[in-house]
Amino acid sequence: WYKNMIQTSEEIRTSDATAGAEGIVREVKRRRTFAIISHPDAGKTTLTEKLLLFGGAIQMAGTVKARKSGRHATSDWLEIEKQRGISVASSVMQFTFDDCVINLLDTPGHQDFSEDTYRVLTAVDAAVMVVDAAKGVEEQTIKLLEVCRLRNTPIITFINKMDREVREPLEVLDEIESVLKIKCAPVTWPIGMGKRFQGVYHLLNDQVLRFVPGEAKAGQDVETLQGGEIDQLAKQCPSEMQTMRDETELVMGAGASFDLDEFLRGQQSPVFFGSGVNNFGVREILRALVDWAPPPLPRATDVRLVLPTEPAFTGFVFKIQANMDPNHRDRIAFMRVCSGRYSSGMKVKHRRTGKDMKLANAVTFMANERTRMDEAYAGDIIGVHNHGQLQIGDVLTEGEALTFKGIPYFAPELFSRARLRDPMKAKQLQKGLRQLGEEGAVQVFEPLIDTSNPLIGAVGQLQFEVVEHRLKAEYGVDAVFERAGIQTARWVTCTDASHLAEFVKANQSRLAKDVDGNYAYLADSGVNLRLAQERWPKVQFFATREHG
Ligand code: G4P
Repeated sequence: WYKNMIQTSEEIRTSDATAGAEGIVREVKRRRTFAIISHPDAGKTTLTEKLLLFGGAIQMAGTVKARKSGRHATSDWLEIEKQRGISVASSVMQFTFDDCVINLLDTPGHQDFSEDTYRVLTAVDAAVMVVDAAKGVEEQTIKLLEVCRLRNTPIITFINKMDREVREPLEVLDEIESVLKIKCAPVTWPIGMGKRFQGVYHLLNDQVLRFVPGEAKAGQDVETLQGGEIDQLAKQCPSEMQTMRDETELVMGAGASFDLDEFLRGQQSPVFFGSGVNNFGVREILRALVDWAPPPLPRATDVRLVLPTEPAFTGFVFKIQANMDPNHRDRIAFMRVCSGRYSSGMKVKHRRTGKDMKLANAVTFMANERTRMDEAYAGDIIGVHNHGQLQIGDVLTEGEALTFKGIPYFAPELFSRARLRDPMKAKQLQKGLRQLGEEGAVQVFEPLIDTSNPLIGAVGQLQFEVVEHRLKAEYGVDAVFERAGIQTARWVTCTDASHLAEFVKANQSRLAKDVDGNYAYLADSGVNLRLAQERWPKVQFFATREHG
């Protein structure tokens, strides 16, 4: 079906739907939905901002950065973000470029929130990977790329900070290929670096894009040189131009030319060099998204493949976020539309509960503001106000019973128990933990024995701090988290129900249930886990699980 998926996507892209009944096809065709992945400090925030600037979505540089540094983030729990200067929140931005509707999904850079990032990546059709040219491939990028690989997400690579003294481009490319195991197809190649950075040579257009430092100019102002003008440049900086020629000859000789089909299959990444902070190379990334990135892809479900152009609405929740805005103290469920058309006030079926829901007042986001959305199509992300009805992985349809696959939970690596300072607040604590668990802020497990004392699992320590802070600010619960003596968890299943019951009986003290009622085995050490696996060979132990 994967081949089918790419083919359908290409059919949509090349179709010439114009109006009327083909309206959905036309709208789907012009959608692109992507996320930027990078190691912290590589330049993700800067690139996000520049993309928005070029897309006309913001008027002024500084808007997104301000949010990152917390100057505009006034809600209580974002205080943590402010203090630490990291981006806890991730949100969605929509803008148009060249008649394409582009949905950019922001992801938290800090690794403690990587679980959130992984889920965001299930909602995109492509990703832009930002690599710091001085540092090369860094740890967080490796992890994120692994997640992209699970779904063969096409990746566009942006090698950033060429205005600095950085590593040799060939070396960086080699590292990407060997560490990330993805073939690189350079589309632009740098001419010099640091103080002697002249610009890039565009291998497909046979042009030189001149680099001029500074943030003032917009994308269309980039000076392009061709033919004799390039020869002229070669006279001004012969050594940089010669190096560029030698290097491009070498990489092209090694057969690294861009191949759209390989890109769409997630096997090859077009590579661009630039300097985000100087607005340089950003327009080429936008062009690659518009020209090459796939329109919304068909999505796998438990029963069939859902095509983005189908008339009936379907969508799934991949993220829940509280307190996006202190003036709206509610929770927003971020939903990726997978097919059909959302229109304000429409009735949908909530797959998990079987209840009918009215979808009204969905919102979209732009930097710091939210705007009402009247219609949305596959690839768009809509924000649905919600008071706890919607959970991560929930599916809304116009009636069909199906569940989208691939929204992951990862086995926590850290476990704590909440100790109340005021024992009268036990009920609020339970409520708070349940809701925060549903949001995916942490994972909450209820031990089979001692059910009133839940275990809280996280992938990163900062998650506990956010939850501690939010419990106090939103639920009035003063609790401290104390480390529980558990090292890892595995979800357990067995095809033989009576064997599973036997396993559960024998391991009661080590078992807990997650929010969806699945059994998890809690091991205090790797040895303990291994022993359990050896003793119960028919029971399967999983380090990740899909929602539902
Ligand atoms: P992140 O979201 O991936 O964490 O990275 P961010 O964009 O915040 O960039 C990290 C730092 O790198 C910032 O510097 C930013 O200005 C700088 N940077 C981004 N792109 C480029 C580039 O093309 N060239 C150069 N030379 N620097 C770049 P900072 O000092 O941490 O913040 P600021 O005070 O400059 O805003």
